[in-house]
Amino acid sequence: MSISERINWLRSELNRHNHAYYVENNPTISDYDYDMMMKELERLERENPELDDPLSPSHRVGSDITKGFTQVTHVHPMLSLGNTYSMEEVDEWVRRCDESLGNTDGLKSVSVVGEMKFDGTSISLIYENGRLVRAVTRGDGEKGDDVTDNIKTIRSIPLVLHGDDYPKAFEIRGEIVLPWKAFDRLNEERAFNEEPLFANPRNAASGTLKLQNSAEVSRRGLDAYFYYLISDELPCDNHYDNMTKARSWGFKVSDLMTLMDSIEDVDSFIKRLDEERRHLPVATDGLVFKVNNIRQQLNLGYTSKSPRWAIAYKFAAERAVTRLRFVSFEVGRMGIVTPVANLEPVLLSGTIVKRASLHNEDIVRSLGIYEHDMLYVEKGGEIIPKITGVDENEREKGTVPVKFVTHCPACGTALIRIPGEASWQCPNKYGCRPQMIGRIEHFVGRHAMDIEGVGEENSALLFDSGLIRNISDLYTLKQEKLEMLDRVGPRTAQRIVDGVEASKSVPFDRVIYALSIPFVGETVARKLARGVKNIDTLISMSRDELTSIDDIGPKIADAIIDYLSVPGNIEIINRLRDYGVSMALPEEDMEERSDILTGKTIVISGVFSIHSREEYKDLIEKNGGKNSGSISKKTTFVLAGDNMGPSKLEKARSLGVPVINETEFLKMLEG
Ligand code: IVH
Repeated sequence: MSISERINWLRSELNRHNHAYYVENNPTISDYDYDMMMKELERLERENPELDDPLSPSHRVGSDITKGFTQVTHVHPMLSLGNTYSMEEVDEWVRRCDESLGNTDGLKSVSVVGEMKFDGTSISLIYENGRLVRAVTRGDGEKGDDVTDNIKTIRSIPLVLHGDDYPKAFEIRGEIVLPWKAFDRLNEERAFNEEPLFANPRNAASGTLKLQNSAEVSRRGLDAYFYYLISDELPCDNHYDNMTKARSWGFKVSDLMTLMDSIEDVDSFIKRLDEERRHLPVATDGLVFKVNNIRQQLNLGYTSKSPRWAIAYKFAAERAVTRLRFVSFEVGRMGIVTPVANLEPVLLSGTIVKRASLHNEDIVRSLGIYEHDMLYVEKGGEIIPKITGVDENEREKGTVPVKFVTHCPACGTALIRIPGEASWQCPNKYGCRPQMIGRIEHFVGRHAMDIEGVGEENSALLFDSGLIRNISDLYTLKQEKLEMLDRVGPRTAQRIVDGVEASKSVPFDRVIYALSIPFVGETVARKLARGVKNIDTLISMSRDELTSIDDIGPKIADAIIDYLSVPGNIEIINRLRDYGVSMALPEEDMEERSDILTGKTIVISGVFSIHSREEYKDLIEKNGGKNSGSISKKTTFVLAGDNMGPSKLEKARSLGVPVINETEFLKMLEG
């Protein structure tokens, strides 16, 4: 390959990964490999300036601008940092700084500050006379979005500064992060609502900062760490002391910031922090080293992209290599067949990894895995282990590529490929053991019928023992029969029987969800329950009638009709009804409901006397309306109690949004 071909190949690969990462939110390469390719491209372009191209991905700094925010030009452009994965290169950087500053003896001449590299989204805050005036995202480095309203919701950011020794005007930069706890909570909530999950706290933080609804921003629990102060009247002549001052004004500056005088200090800092970062409440992806003295910083200056006085040391994603024992093919509740790599056990970031999903046939093929290959396993966002590649040098002679099965490994039925998707499916829905057990597991699950005592293991046990063939048989289980099973004692037997009994009061929408109708998740099940009110109506509905229900599209409607056209499914539903499972919305639920507020967006504010705030929220939803946290042009009216804040009142008035009290609101519902 010639140099120019290599450059073109790197550019197109990097563009492809950029798109997957920034646009599709679905990274296709590890950060390490990406950075290595980018470095190679930058080097080749530097060495061959005649081949440079203004549109090369190396000149793209990335942009996070969203429509709807005002754009602001940064007074000082927001640069990025040069980075490395090697400790030796950090040492080299220290020596280079020393030399450029005229110190050739290489000893203790330049002081360096070491900090965590927080993995969030950067922010620039402008303060004047001790008050926050503006918060702007990095954007393309030159211009960013004004997100002041959202930033004000972050409680760790001071709006008015403490003390009195701050410059009249300054800019402070930092990182907006979503702490692990808040990230997990947000994703749990999103899973529950069947919304797409955030891949990591960084995406969650930047997504949250760009929401148009600052009440929602506030709820999610963002946090911020600060690491750079800019002003014409800096209080001190060095970075460390300036940040210590900033801490005293109320900014969160990490306690891990450390002042160092020698290369040995730098190396031991790297070793210590690589361990310590595992216990931090927020995600970090490396360390940042900065020359401490501001005058020395100015002397070292900048390249076109980054300061010469700072460098980022990135932690490599932890990686292990291990041998593939075999690929198993596992059949899920909906018949989708997933390939799973079964590995020789290997230790990775503190846990032993034995299995990793290979997702689908296309991924197996693109990895090019042969039987018994040595595989690279990585734990990127510290979460699920992932196979990232193959060590082809270790390939055994005479082995062949892993082949995808053509028939269901459980029941032998020929698989079908779902049109437009990468997955293969076993069509034998009602005769394939893992699918039948999967539906039982789903039925008893916490978000469905919540039947305690029957988990994953017991579902299989009950099925294999022949005590139950499908979900309706659960309601015929007797204590004595259960006790006769291996591994089921009297207490478990009792819990199962009680759990089954209690499930009869689970509301209708969760029953619909529990049935395992394809594409009917919790949200769709709720919409369906409200739309049809009882199961007989659902059974009698045509495709057109179904699609006239809010949020039910043709794909879901077809799946429902398909499911209800199977006599066995109707029999299961009838039996569930006979055993006492709810197959309709409760009477009072139907009476209370109306469409009076359909299409209306309502903001509740203040303290109420007739009903509670929560009751009003409920009433709004039951009558077809939508609750919203903040007043905007889209608000239909504000339902105001006592003590509504003056700023809200003013906002409603300025936007011409009507404000009504609770008596007026209740009258409206009667009407
Ligand atoms: S200093 C001119 N310090 O990393 C120097 N950046 O790759 C400005 N970051 O855009 C940056 N932790 O978003 C600095 N302790 C830290 C940092 C940090 C995280 C981010 C920041 C920057 C990016 C550069």
